Order: sequence, then C-alpha cells, then structure tokens
Amino acid sequence: MSTDDSRRHYIDGEWTTGTGDETFSSVNPANGEELASFHRGTEADVDRALAAAEDAYDEWRSLSHIDRAEYLWEIYHELRDRHEELGEIVTMECGKEISEGLADVTESWHMVEWAAGNARHPHGDVVPSEIASKDAYMRRKPKGVVGCITPWNFPVAIPFWHLAVTLVEGNTVVWKPAEQTPWCAHIIAEMFEDSGIPDGVFNLVQGYGDAGNAIVEDDRVETVLFTGSAEVGHKIASKVGGEPGKIAACEMGGKNAVVITEEADLDIAVHSAVMSSFKTTGQRCVSSERLIVHEDLYDEFKERFVDIASDIAVGDPLEEDTFMGPLIEADQVEKFKKYNDLAREEGANVLVDRADLGSEEIPDGHEDGHWVGPFVYEIDYDEDLRCINEEVFGPHVALLEYSGDFDEALEMHNSVDYGLAGAIISEDYRQINQFRDEAEIGLAYGNLPCIGAEVHLPFGGVKKSGNGLPSGREVIEAVTERTAWTLNNSKDIEMAQGLSADIITDE
Ligand code: UN1
Repeated sequence: MSTDDSRRHYIDGEWTTGTGDETFSSVNPANGEELASFHRGTEADVDRALAAAEDAYDEWRSLSHIDRAEYLWEIYHELRDRHEELGEIVTMECGKEISEGLADVTESWHMVEWAAGNARHPHGDVVPSEIASKDAYMRRKPKGVVGCITPWNFPVAIPFWHLAVTLVEGNTVVWKPAEQTPWCAHIIAEMFEDSGIPDGVFNLVQGYGDAGNAIVEDDRVETVLFTGSAEVGHKIASKVGGEPGKIAACEMGGKNAVVITEEADLDIAVHSAVMSSFKTTGQRCVSSERLIVHEDLYDEFKERFVDIASDIAVGDPLEEDTFMGPLIEADQVEKFKKYNDLAREEGANVLVDRADLGSEEIPDGHEDGHWVGPFVYEIDYDEDLRCINEEVFGPHVALLEYSGDFDEALEMHNSVDYGLAGAIISEDYRQINQFRDEAEIGLAYGNLPCIGAEVHLPFGGVKKSGNGLPSGREVIEAVTERTAWTLNNSKDIEMAQGLSADIITDE
C-alpha cells in the first residue's frame, strides 16, 4: 500500500500522517494477508500528542465526572452497535477465534460501563475526626497526562481498561497500542472522534517500542499504564521508579498453574485445564502452562487431558467450530518451538506434540498462517527447570505430579517468580480456602479455569507479574491522587492527638 492510503495517528482531534516516512502493516496471523497499512509514529509525533494532551488538561479536568462520562457513554453505544464488525476485526488481526473476538469487545463495553457509571458513585470516604468540630474526608484528583501502552492479545478490552477510568477521572491520554493490532486501535480512535470528546483529551500514536519509550521517558507524563510482557514492563517500571512523583502501573505475564488435588471432581478438572491452557492458543497473560496433579488422579486426568489436546480443533478463527486459532507471529512460533525443545532437553516425556501441524490440519488458503497445535508433556518436578519457570505464551503445557499433602502442591504452585493467576480444583473447602489464602497470585479461582476475569474485579498480579497497581476498576488508584481533607467548623483551633493548640509567649 502507498503511504497515502496508510491510516493515520489521531492527535489533537485530527487524523495526521505524523512526521515520519515509515509505514507498517497489520497482518492477519491466520493467513499472512496484509489487512491495512499505518503510519509509524516517531518521537516527534509523541511529543505533539503530549503537548496536545497537556493543553487539553485544564479544561477537561474542570468538567464534572458526570459530564466527562457522557463522552464515554457515546462510546459504549458505538461499541455495542459495532460489536460484530469489531469482533471480526479483532479475530482477523490477532487470530483469536470468533467467540473470543466478540468477547473482547463485550469486555471493553463492560469496562466503559463501569467507568462511566462510577462517575455517579461515591468517590472516597468520610472519616471521623477526633475533634467533633472537624470534618475529614478523602478526595481524588486527576494526575494529569497519562501514557497508555497496550498489548495485542486483548486489542479492544485492555485499551479500555486503561482509557475509560483514566478519562472519567479527569486525566488526558496519549496511547500507543501494540504494533500487531493497529486496526482495532484505529477504530477505537474513530469512536473517540464520533463521541465529540474535546480535542487533545485522547490521542493515539501508532507504532513500535520507540514511540512507547518516548511516552515513558517524557516528563509531562505523570503516570504510565502498561500491560504486556514482563521484559518490557520491568524496564518501564525501573525507568519510571527513579523519577520522584511519577509512577508506572504494570501488568505483566505469568507462569500460571491449575492445581488438581486428590479431592477434585475430574470433569471440572479436565474442563478447567483445557480452557486455561488452550483458550486464545495459550496467549493470555493468565493462561496456564502448569498443571499440578495429585498422584491419586494423575493417570486418569492425564489420559483425559491428552485425549482432548490431541484432538482440539485448531483452525480458521472466523469459523465457529474452531477452538484454537494461530499464534500471533512467526517469532512466537519460534519461541514456542524453542521451549518445546528445551523441555525435551530438560527431560520431558512428551505426550502430545502438534507443534508442526499436518497440511490437512491447516485450513485451505491459510498456509501462510502461524499455525501450531498443543505441546503437552510430563516431567519429574524440579523447581529449577526452566521449562516450568519461564513464560512461553503458547499452548505449551507441563503436567506435574505430586504425592504428598496439599502443602506440597502449594509449594510447587508458588515456586515460580511470577504471580498472576491460578486455580484449584477440589471438593474440599479447606484446601480451597488454603489456596485462596496462600497461593501467591493476584487472581485466584476455585473449581474454574484461571482465565476470564470480569472487569469490575481488580486485575493484577504479584511478584514478577505486577507492581501492585492493578487494572480493571482499581486502576483508579494509579490515575488519581488522593487528598485527605480536614475542615474546622469551629472558631477555635483544636488539635488531634491531644496536641496543645495554646500559643505560649514570654510575655
Ligand atoms: C490477559 O490475560 O492478557 O481474565 C488479559 C481474562 C481476561 C483478560 C485477560 N478478562 O482472561
């Protein structure tokens, strides 16, 4: 495509080619076809977007929460009206099967609904004072210009995790979406334009990591919201950590597990494990790459899980009878295969290897897609094995057998550096509650897959998976400052803690 046809950035209420001369393409991972071309953002484009966001800030913050939310309600309706169109684009751009493409859009309007609805809800606490004549309460203020950097795997939902609450709270934003899913981002910018939101409040710069980095490094950005790989997230967190007053809220990956105890219902165990490991072709940050199974159930679980993994429907993600679409790109296929080899080197007994699918398994006309099937193995547990510690982001799944009591399973569960999501499958409430309390993760599930969080729960991990400022509704903590406000209703000044308010002089 020529440069002129390439889609533009949305900066200060205008569609602009920006200052660079490079373009890049969005490519359908299922068939290698180019979907659309986009201008690649430069540092100068980010600079312009940040200037626009800074200029727009005073006026935007002076509106009421409820007036700001009105623009988001417009977007809410457009997301619903364009559900099918946008769901298909999600599927074409990132390869998730169509029910997942549609769910991505549904999740996005849920977030918008929560944020816009929250405009009318109480925003803080009234706090009793020790002094009867004092009123004390908490107020929230916006931070200013917020930088948002989002991943390709939820190309509509995660942008709204970042944008919806941030804007309703009175911040302005500069957003750099993943380079793999610029078309979804373009449509989101169209929706902001249609909403009539004031110029400069919302800005989109398309491009790669250099544009994202320009956002992170700029002094005008008070808060960076990042969802994506641990590698990039830790770099952002350490860069921003050195700057007083500036924060980065980072949500990163996991090496998540489903624990199946001797008290598990096997039907629930198998169903949950398949969903956790293979939905989104294992490319959710909450996907499970470890299944920790008690020896009493191990053989039967293994047989049933392997049976499904051997047959799971890999295919055209636009078809409703597909369970797994392709991986996102060639590099990801390479990484997946590299980790499969590593598992073999570390002693894996491979149970299912569909990494190289047969030509009859690849849908017609899709030969250039990034196709893989499940890779499932069992391995004697050793906490130092790399294959059970490092995130692959694909359908690479280890079965780990344990024989002792539940403490042993928990120890295996907690032995990784990550701490995002996990599930326990058990009919014993004591085990379930122990998992709830002792599993080192931010998102814990009982008798369910470890995927599929709802937006009105805080979404975030611990350890290497996050830095304690979650997304979902609790992003509000990252994008606002709280003021503890105390007002004296008396003419006298009286202090808390028994502190004397007498002024004593020598006279
Ligand atoms: C991600 O894992 O990359 O909890 C995001 C879920 C979705 C979001 C996942 N609501 O599975």
